[in-house]
This record gives sequence, C-alpha cells and structure tokens, in this order.
Amino acid sequence: MAVFPPKEALWWKLPISRSELIWIIVAFSWGLFMFFFMIYWHGAGKQNLSNEAYRISAENFSAKTKAMVDKYTVRQYETKQGTTIPVVHPPAGSDVYLIARLWQWWPMLELEKDKSYRVHISSMDWMHGFSLQPVNINIEIHPDYEIVLTMTPDTSGEFTIVCNEYCGIGHHTMLGKIFVAENK
Ligand code: CUA
Repeated sequence: MAVFPPKEALWWKLPISRSELIWIIVAFSWGLFMFFFMIYWHGAGKQNLSNEAYRISAENFSAKTKAMVDKYTVRQYETKQGTTIPVVHPPAGSDVYLIARLWQWWPMLELEKDKSYRVHISSMDWMHGFSLQPVNINIEIHPDYEIVLTMTPDTSGEFTIVCNEYCGIGHHTMLGKIFVAENK
C-alpha cells in the first residue's frame, strides 16, 4: 500500500523484485514494438491515412467551396434541425471542398463509387473532428489548414460525418453526409 511513505527511505537502492523487473521489460518492449509499428502501419494496413495538409485562409477556402456548390448542387437536404444544406455532385476526379463550422458540415457530398476525388476539408472557426461512419475514418480539422485526402469510395450508400471533437453547444447536431452513388 502506498498511502504511507516506505519504511526504507532509500527504497530505490533496494534490489528490484523479479516480477517487477519482468513487468518493466514487458512494458518497455511492447512500447518499442508499438513505436516501430506506427511507422510500419503508415504504409501497410488501412488504419493510418496518408493525408496532406496545407495552410489556407478561411476566406480562400470558403470561396473555393462556394464556387463548387454554385456549380454542382443537385438538390437540397433538410436536416433534423430544419436547416437546408446543398448536396453537390462534383465530377469524378475533381477537387471537392468540405467546410466544418459551428455546427454543420457544408455542403453534403454525392460521390460516385470507384471514382477518386481529392477531398479538401477545413474549419471556418475552431477545431472539429471529421469522423466518417460506419467506416471509422477520423481526422482532426483545424482552422487555417486544409486536410487533403484522396478518397475512392468502394461501397455505395449513405455515410454520416460525425463531429468527434467537442465544439460547443451544438456539437451533437453537427452531422454531415456523403452519399455514394452506384456508378452506371
Ligand atoms: Cu464540431 Cu463538434
């Protein structure tokens, strides 16, 4: 019990117990193993995304997003909160922009299955978390930086973007959508 100070004041000079030594070796080796596998998993496996990040101002990013929305909006989506968010269907292979802000993902995206897109995501205010469900992709979204990821959806259907970084009173309502259309 460690509530009271040890009887032997210079406890660190006592010989180390065998079981303690084993635990230290096990924990240290596991730490080293995981450390080197972080590098390995970056290339192999599907857990780690190879994102790119660039500095960008909110004005610049919002102008690019707005231009895409003006050009490629195909319909409107009504959220449970009663707000209307445009759904865009940009051409395959193009640059797609997604804004994170209090408290929405704007716009909603409609992509085609088996086509690749360069998806740019940035925040207009403070930090949000891009969590794509049910595939469980997680990315932190910061203001003044755009994250760029190459996305090739291999399953059609409806995917939900959940904000997973607490961002205030409306955090739980910050839901977006990516629709993946079957490619004809
Ligand atoms: Cu945005 Cu939580």
